Amino acid sequence: MELLFTKQPIKFIMKIILVPVIITLLAFHGNAQSVSSSSSTYNEPHRPQIHFSPEAHWMNDPNGMVFFNNQYHLFYQYYPDSTVWGPMHWGHATSKDLIHWQNLPIALYPDSLGYIFSGSAVVDINNTSGFGKNGKAPLVAIFTHHDPKGEKSGSNTFQNQSLAYSLDEGITWKKYDSNPVLKNPGIKDFRDPKVSWFEPDKKWIMTLATLNDITFYSSKDLKDWTKESEFGQKLGAHGGVWECPDLFPLTYNGQKIWVLIVNINPGGPNGGSATQYFTGNFDGHTFTPNQTNTKWLDYGPDEYAGITWSNTGSRKIFLGWMSNWQYANVVPTEKWRSATTVPRELGIEKVGQQFLVTSKPVSELSTLAAAPVAIKNIKARKFDVTAKAGKMEGPFRLELSADKLESYSITFSNKLDENVVVGFDKAANEYYIDRTRSGKVDFEKGFAKRHTAPRFSSRQSEKMTLIVDNASIELFADNGRSTMTAIFFPHEVYSNIQIKSTSNLNIKSLVLTKLKRIWK
Ligand code: FRU
Repeated sequence: MELLFTKQPIKFIMKIILVPVIITLLAFHGNAQSVSSSSSTYNEPHRPQIHFSPEAHWMNDPNGMVFFNNQYHLFYQYYPDSTVWGPMHWGHATSKDLIHWQNLPIALYPDSLGYIFSGSAVVDINNTSGFGKNGKAPLVAIFTHHDPKGEKSGSNTFQNQSLAYSLDEGITWKKYDSNPVLKNPGIKDFRDPKVSWFEPDKKWIMTLATLNDITFYSSKDLKDWTKESEFGQKLGAHGGVWECPDLFPLTYNGQKIWVLIVNINPGGPNGGSATQYFTGNFDGHTFTPNQTNTKWLDYGPDEYAGITWSNTGSRKIFLGWMSNWQYANVVPTEKWRSATTVPRELGIEKVGQQFLVTSKPVSELSTLAAAPVAIKNIKARKFDVTAKAGKMEGPFRLELSADKLESYSITFSNKLDENVVVGFDKAANEYYIDRTRSGKVDFEKGFAKRHTAPRFSSRQSEKMTLIVDNASIELFADNGRSTMTAIFFPHEVYSNIQIKSTSNLNIKSLVLTKLKRIWK
């Protein structure tokens, strides 16, 4: 993390100063309180059609994700005055199905203690905090207060953990008047609290990113926190600062396996920001890993700050920010910046001796499915999918199943011959997404690249799902063992699909399904 939490490379400082001013002058500054989208929005070039993005302005991490009274709440790092990072607020949207979103008023504004950085939200069913009234359980948000003045003054204690609560389904929030509840002991990067209920000890656990490791705290009332332990200084990837953690159990063959997610920036497997995880055991005090190698939840360049919804029982639903701090501030969108990934259901599998966390698009995505076209038994070395299935002008899902996996590539292109190539390289045993010639790439030197992910299956057969939107592709291969996300900015959407293979690829079935856009 750079000094002064600017998040922007120096070469773009001018842009950062000028863009907000120009935007404001053009009176493009939207109404931060807007509750629904107008017909002209969500139609701009590169606008995701099946992914959440704010109506206007800057977004980064998903925050405070909580399921409550049949609604999925999504809060997010939001700067309502510009399309680049700035003083952080919590934006807010809700969904009944994880797919269609309603934009709501800003939930949390910066205050005298600082900007509102990332954090989580819980349903305090037993009213341990005492914030509930008349039998109504409060929603409690636990977030980092980031004091920019303290940061500038050179102090190390400018990030502290605070609370806010809501008694009206997350619409309005009251900050706790004794904030902060967890004071910084002198650690420069001390943030992104993820809080969950630990039933055996009837206490809350806060998983906090503390510079280059994780510190666990516990509390009976969300207000008074006790340090339990630290984890990870010598484990996992350390190419950058640790941020946005999460801790939860998954079940493998009846056995409870704890997963500790740790986002890291930079130092990801394909450069910049990425999400790593550890598997092991958590006893209410200490996390003990059962494996020590570094594992990544998503190998692509554009899934970051991903964490899971709270209060969803044993179903764990993960959502990431679909960008990378290497270029997030300069991607070529005008009215807004960034989107989230599709929500993903996490599972756990054992491959050899390795526990692997798997990711799959949530089944609710199928509610968008229209007009599937199925093609069976493709044996050719070159196959023009478009000639058979027609053009894909909007978002779609591609499902491929092969009996005997050979090297192959799927090219998505437009008539300007801009393309993204997704494929499998048998010799290297890896999947890849190549966006070298994807369209607008010159906003960042490292953007035009081929990114890879190892294959974690030794089976001959393969199943792969691709979710393609106007500006992104998400790859889920081998039951979600290998996952990749990449964004791109073509001058025209890709509508042609071609498959190539150097040997006799035997595709048992290829199903292309258009996905209806989520915005009204
Ligand atoms: C991750 C992050 C968090 C921080 C937030 C600030 O992308 O750096 O650590 O809370 O963004 O917007």
